[in-house]
Amino acid sequence: MSRKTAIVTGSSSGFGLLCVIELAVKGYQVIATMRNLNKSAPLLAMAKDQNVSDLIDIQPLDVTLTESILELKNYLTRISSIDVLVNNAGLAVGGFSEELSVEAYRKQFETNFFGVIAVTQMVLPFMRANGQGRIINISSISGRMGFPGLSAYTSSKFALEGFSESLRLEVKPFGIDVMLVEPGSYETNIWSSIETINNDQESPYLPYMTALLNEIESRKAEHGDPQDVAKLVAQIAAQTKSPDLRYPIGKGVKKNLFLKNMLPWKMIERVILKQIK
Ligand SMILES: NC(=O)c1ccc[n+]([C@@H]2O[C@H](COP(=O)([O-])OP(=O)(O)OC[C@H]3O[C@@H](n4cnc5c(N)ncnc54)[C@H](OP(=O)(O)O)[C@@H]3O)[C@@H](O)[C@H]2O)c1
Repeated sequence: MSRKTAIVTGSSSGFGLLCVIELAVKGYQVIATMRNLNKSAPLLAMAKDQNVSDLIDIQPLDVTLTESILELKNYLTRISSIDVLVNNAGLAVGGFSEELSVEAYRKQFETNFFGVIAVTQMVLPFMRANGQGRIINISSISGRMGFPGLSAYTSSKFALEGFSESLRLEVKPFGIDVMLVEPGSYETNIWSSIETINNDQESPYLPYMTALLNEIESRKAEHGDPQDVAKLVAQIAAQTKSPDLRYPIGKGVKKNLFLKNMLPWKMIERVILKQIK
C-alpha cells in the first residue's frame, strides 16, 4: 500500500517542524514547506536523528505569495494523493488597537488568515479528486478568547475559526474533514515577535503594555512542550474515528474555555484585568 502524504506549512521551526517529524514517524510521506529554505537545517537534523529523512521532502512556500502557492501546486501534480494538510504557518503581531496601523492588521491577516485560505483552496481539488482528506488548521486559545495587546492576532484566529466551521460543512460531503487545534501558550519562536512591540515612551498605553509584557514573561515557566501539540496533530491526522471540529490543548485551556462558556464576560474580564496589574 502506498504511503499517505501530508503537507505542513511553516515547518522551519516550532509546531510546524515538530509536526513534520511526528507525521513522518507515523509513516506519512511529508512535504515540509517553509518560506526560507536556508532555515531547513534544524528540521533536517531532527529528521536524521529520528531516522525519517527519506520521508521528508522540503519545498518552498510563502503562504502570502500567489506565485509561491502556484509553484507548489505544480509540484503537487506529480503526487498521487494528498491526504493531510496542516495549516500551521503563522505569526503574532502585538500592540494596542489604537496604536497599531491598519497595515499591521493586514500583515497579520495575510499570513494567519488569507494564507490559510489560499493554501486550502490550492489543496482541496487534490483531496476532492480522492474523495478524502484532512485539513488541520492551527488556531489558538486566542481564536476563542480576546486578550489585550493581541487584538490583531486574536482577530486573525477568530476569523480562522469561523472560516474553518463553514469550510467543514462545505467539504464534509466530499469526505474531507476540517479540524481546529487550539493551543494555549507553548515555547516556540512566536513569542519573539510579540516581545519586539514598539514601546513608544509617550504612549498612554505604555504602563499597560509593560504590565502585559511582564505578565507574559512571568508565565513563561508555564509554557507547554510544543511536542505535545505535534503529537496531537499526528494523532488526529491518522485517527480512524470521525474527528471533532475543535481540539483545545495546553495548560488551563479547557478550564478557561469552560469558564468563558459558563460565566458572564464581565466576570472574565475582571479576572484578566486583575492579572495584568
Ligand atoms: N507557540 C504558541 O504558544 C502558540 C499558541 C497557539 C497557536 N500557535 C500557532 O501555532 C502556529 C505555529 O507557530 P509556532 O508557535 O510554532 O511559532 P514559530 O516557531 O514562530 O513558527 C511559525 C512558522 O510559521 C512560518 N511563517 C510565518 N510567516 C509565513 C509565511 N508568510 N509563509 C510561510 N511560513 C510562514 C515561520 O517561518 P519563518 O521561520 O520563515 O519565520 C515559522 O516556520 C501559528 O499559527 C501560531 O499562531 C502558537
